[in-house]
Order: sequence, then C-alpha cells, then structure tokens
Amino acid sequence: MDISSGKMDKIVALCKRRGFIFQSSEIYGGINGFWDYGPLGAELKRNLKNAWWEDIVRGPLIGPQGELVEIVGLDSSIIMNPKAWVASGHVGGFNDPMVDCRETKNRYRADHLLSAEVVGNQKGERQSLGWLVVLEGDRAEEVWLKRAEKLAKKRQVDLASKKPEWIPYPMLPLEKRAGVIGPDAEQPGTLTEPRQFNLMFKTMVGAVEDSNATAYLRPETAQGIFVNFRNVLDTSRVKIPFGIAQIGKAFRNEVTPRNFTFRSREFEQMEIEFFVPPEQAEEWYQFWREQRYKWWISIGISPENLRVRAQTKEELAHYAQAGAGSSDLEYRFPFTDPGFGELEGVAHRADYDLRQHAEHSKQGDRMKYYDQERNERYFPHIIEPSAGVDRGALALICDAYVEDPNRPSGVFLKFHPRMAPVKAGIFPLVDKEGMAEIAEGLYRELRKRWNVQLDIKQNIGKRYARMDEIGTPYCFTVDTQTLSDNTVTVRDRDTLQQERIPLSQVTAFLASKID
Ligand code: GAP
Repeated sequence: MDISSGKMDKIVALCKRRGFIFQSSEIYGGINGFWDYGPLGAELKRNLKNAWWEDIVRGPLIGPQGELVEIVGLDSSIIMNPKAWVASGHVGGFNDPMVDCRETKNRYRADHLLSAEVVGNQKGERQSLGWLVVLEGDRAEEVWLKRAEKLAKKRQVDLASKKPEWIPYPMLPLEKRAGVIGPDAEQPGTLTEPRQFNLMFKTMVGAVEDSNATAYLRPETAQGIFVNFRNVLDTSRVKIPFGIAQIGKAFRNEVTPRNFTFRSREFEQMEIEFFVPPEQAEEWYQFWREQRYKWWISIGISPENLRVRAQTKEELAHYAQAGAGSSDLEYRFPFTDPGFGELEGVAHRADYDLRQHAEHSKQGDRMKYYDQERNERYFPHIIEPSAGVDRGALALICDAYVEDPNRPSGVFLKFHPRMAPVKAGIFPLVDKEGMAEIAEGLYRELRKRWNVQLDIKQNIGKRYARMDEIGTPYCFTVDTQTLSDNTVTVRDRDTLQQERIPLSQVTAFLASKID
C-alpha cells in the first residue's frame, strides 16, 4: 500500500480499529487490491448507495428545462457474453501501458509520467544534464525542480531554467527514453519500455476449460446497461431523454493497486447511462456535471475538497473522443493533497456504445430509438455519470475525519447524519433504578428505523468517546431526571452541546436530523 501522508495512516488505522475496512483474507496475509468492509463500513456503503438510489433514481430530479428526470433501475449480471467486451473495446483496448524501474522495482502507468530535460548553465554555456521523469499531478513541477537542483549541484553548474518543459513520457523519442532518470531512481536508464497489460479478469464458464469457455468479470457496470437498452425500451414506458441506473461490482486487474481502497481490483460502481437526442447532449452533459457536484456536497463532502475538472483532449477515453467532453469530479484525498483524485466521471459517450453493440450483435436498427413525435429512428447519445462507491465511502471517511485534542477520543468523524453508520447511541447513565430498562425500550423503538447502539456499561465519557470516533451524530442518555419527568439528554457530536427533550420526541427529533 502506498500511502504517504501521516493523516492517511491514522485514517487507515481507525478504519481497522473500529471495523470500517479490513484487508481481504487478512488471516492469510491479505491479497493486494482487495478489501472487506466491517460492520460500520458495510453500513456506510449502504447509506451511500441508498442515498444515490433515492436521490437520483427515485428523485424527483428536475431537468434543465424544468422537466422531471426519468430514470429506471437495472441489475445485470457480472459475467456477460464475451462478445459484449469485444464490442465495447475492452478486449482490444482495455490496456494500460506500464513502465517498470529496474533500480527501484516500482511500476508506473506510462501515461501518468512526465519528462523534462535538465539544462545547466556554466559560464554562459548551456549543457544538458539529462532527462528527469516525474509523476504527473499538482506537485510535478515542484518535485522536478528539487531533483533538477540536486543534479545541477552535483555537476557544479547552475540551472539554465527552473521551469520544466514537459513532454509526456510516451511521446519522448526512443533514444532519449533510454537515458532518462525514473521518478524514484538515482541512476539514468533504468526504466523499461512501456508494456501493455489487459486489465480484465478472465474466468471459465462451464466444465470444459477451452478457449470457447473464456469469459470476463465485468470491468464496468455500464455495458450491462447498453446491452439491455432494447429490453428496457420494450418493457417500460420510458421516452427519451431517460436514464438507466445500476449499482454493482466491477473488477479490474489493476497493475498497481494502491492508496487504500482508492485503486482496488474489486470495487463497486454507481452508474447512470442517460440517453438523449444528439442535439441535447451538451445541455444534459452540463446538467449532470452540476447535479453530481451538488449531490456529493449534499451528503456532506466539503466544497473546498471537491472540484469538477474537464479532461484534456489527450485524456479522453476512446468512446468520448467525439463528444461534448468528459469531466472528473475530483476529491482532495490526504494522499493526493494538495492535488485531487478522481471520485466520479461524467462523460459524453456520444452514440459509440449503442452503435458498437448494434454492429457486433447484428441487431442493427433494433438498437435504435424510435422517436414517435419526430417519426424518426436514431441512435441516442449517452451522458454517463459514473461514480465509485468505494472511493465515495473513502472520501466520506476522509472528509469526516477531524482531530480534536480536547476530546477524550482525540478524533471524531463528522459524518452527515444521513451517512453516519450508527445514527444514535443510547445510554443509561448508570445501570440502576430502571434506567437500563428505559434505555432498552428507546433502543428497541429506534432500531425499527435506524442502526442505533445501546451501551449500558462503562463510564459515560468512554461511551461518548467511542461514539465520537465512529461518527455517531447523537447520543441519548437516560438519567435520574428521566425517572421523574420522562426527558432524556441529547448530545450533539459536533457542538458537544446537550439539551433535554421528552422521551416521546426522540424518534421525531432523529427523523428531522436524518431525513
Ligand atoms: N463506465 C465508465 C467507467 O467505468 P471509470 O472512470 O473507469 O469509468 C468510474 O470508472 C469510477 O469507478 C471512477 O470514477 C472511480 O470512482 C471508480 N473506479 C474506477 N477504477 C477503480 C478502482 N480500480 N478502484 C476503485 N474505484 C475505481
């Protein structure tokens, strides 16, 4: 795991200590790129997926022209006919060219590397000191300059320029590539030539293991939606523009899984394929970019840690080359800080996918949409907001993490109440005079609607500390006064304020905060 920031180390430790995220099959030493969600992690993920489904699929969302946005759900199989992956371009093109460093044994994606020449200046004469390769990102220039200055010092010359003139590493001429100094290397010439790796996991279907039995674990949920386009049209009363939404597992044999769950080999996606008339693509693309940004903020992500970045022409995936563009919603994770990492993509895929499937499946015009009003049959364009559930859960945890030396726990998770895995802690102040029985009654009542915890033992400070550390927004305590006036104290996790409310009002109080 490559997690360089101290804050991230603490978050990873908290996730394990409190049961959010564990290494997969840890008792056997784990397996790189796979993670298990513990009791709290499972709740958090479920809250995230439920919120997405409720807010986006059920809505009601209002579209750019004031119309109701129509979206229906789908749950397609993970293993599909392998021809679907030929049509989608994944069999031929789902490759990351990788570069290995012979000195450090590190492996990099070639398209994530930037190179720039270091030029020295000795008594007015310019001389090349070599080529430095660094990882792209907001700190690329700073890293390059530090290493360039070190190189110049060693050669006892000044730098002719402190500004790197970038050339993407794969575009560097071959003879120059042979002598570059890799991102973490000291010696020149230790990087291998870029090599292709297909990221799809292969498996066998049926009893006979021959090449006809080869199938793939889906690397995205999107293709399950495209191949069902006709089925959905034929069986539901949807009219363009409309969307099909799906939440499900995806698998990619990532060459360098890293940064905790950020780049995993098994992960979940929440994808919408939104079908529009081609001339409305630009409008819906803008709509979804804005809508998705607002949604992440609405579930508690801080605006200063989220940005929308339009991809450059070079970054665009094959299916998005012809369209209105693609944008990434990026979160400032502790391991990317001060830079950002992708949380969700919003892509205009044009009509690439439906055309591909129409041709490869020989369904032809059956994959087109018949527009009754226009009396016209056409391939609709697609706007695709595609979010990662695991990256979403990780962003929620990172954003909620607050260090507070004034609390016994030293740290608390400031989850939005809707996302919090445990909505409330219920405590009797002491296990005497029937307080525990009242607390248990309240617990049984609240459990009908939410995940809440009853904690009877330990001193009250320790119980609050535990709830702070797992991000429980409210704690209700039954005390001596409850016995006389039927009120309980409510403690607010963020403000630490306490107030008294009638026992009979607790459910309504919690509902008003969560729903
Ligand atoms: N259908 C389009 C598609 O799959 P993508 O950008 O490759 O696009 C969409 O993936 C989202 O899935 C990403 O924004 C990210 O949140 C998540 N994702 C992709 N690869 C991932 C990985 N290896 N580990 C965790 N999440 C990943």
